[in-house]
Amino acid sequence: ALVTTGELVSEAAEAGRGVAAFNVITLEHAEAIAAGAEAAGLPAILQISQNAVKYHGGRLGPIAAASAAVARDSSARLSLHLDHVEDEALLHAAPEHGFSSAMFDASKLAYADNVAATAEAAAFAHRHGMWLEAELGRVGGKEGDGPADAHAPGARTDPDEAVAYVAATGVDALAVAVGSSHAMTSRSASLDHELIARLAAAVPVPLVLHGSSGVPDEVLAAGVRAGMVKINIGTALNVAFTGAVRGVLDGDAGLVDPRKYLKPARAATADVIAHLAKVAH
Ligand code: G3H
Ligand code: ZN
Repeated sequence: ALVTTGELVSEAAEAGRGVAAFNVITLEHAEAIAAGAEAAGLPAILQISQNAVKYHGGRLGPIAAASAAVARDSSARLSLHLDHVEDEALLHAAPEHGFSSAMFDASKLAYADNVAATAEAAAFAHRHGMWLEAELGRVGGKEGDGPADAHAPGARTDPDEAVAYVAATGVDALAVAVGSSHAMTSRSASLDHELIARLAAAVPVPLVLHGSSGVPDEVLAAGVRAGMVKINIGTALNVAFTGAVRGVLDGDAGLVDPRKYLKPARAATADVIAHLAKVAH
């Protein structure tokens, strides 16, 4: 069933739980998320990033329509979220494509510009019945990230600044820098659980963890108990997906039918999703 991100995140926050958000690049990712969520008996958020839209030739329509159709068909409660949007035109296209939420990423801007752009994005989202996430204290590790600055990887979100930022922008959820970093293929990140607890106590909206692929299971579960709610996971899916493709292709030089490697890749990805959905719950 296609539900809204706002309801999934609110119910998780009220229960003191987390909800996993998984990145969709291809149709097989969306199918794997539905299968994994069904196997876990848990809801999940399907998120499509601006980078994934760029991969699809800048076209949001096809991958959004496919993901929404997969969600509608599933017995799991699934929502559609537009992730790491920097382009305002893309944000403006989200409501007509079935998205109930977006993350507006102004984290490359200086603080005052970030606040102004994010407040405008939140106002747009609310006029269209959408829920808006923003980021304060750059998580880092994304392709194209500039040199180290105040929001460099390893930086931490300050609780007082976070409270002021949420009040100034009107966002519905806040991504914070608490130790994770994007695109890690090893699970070796540590989280600052004490800071998470202080942020959760101070900030009036649910907290979002980016770069969760690099966080070990126990550390991630403890992060949820400390107060993280929306748990974003992308790279871990691709580690499973590509590992399965490589395994099949390495064993058969004559194979040409893509279904022969995409099917095991989708199944391996669904297994990882089912596991991580439970860890993040
Ligand atoms: O917004 C997406 C996430 O932060 C995914 O990060 O690929 O490092 O798990 P990850
Ligand atoms: Zn992210």
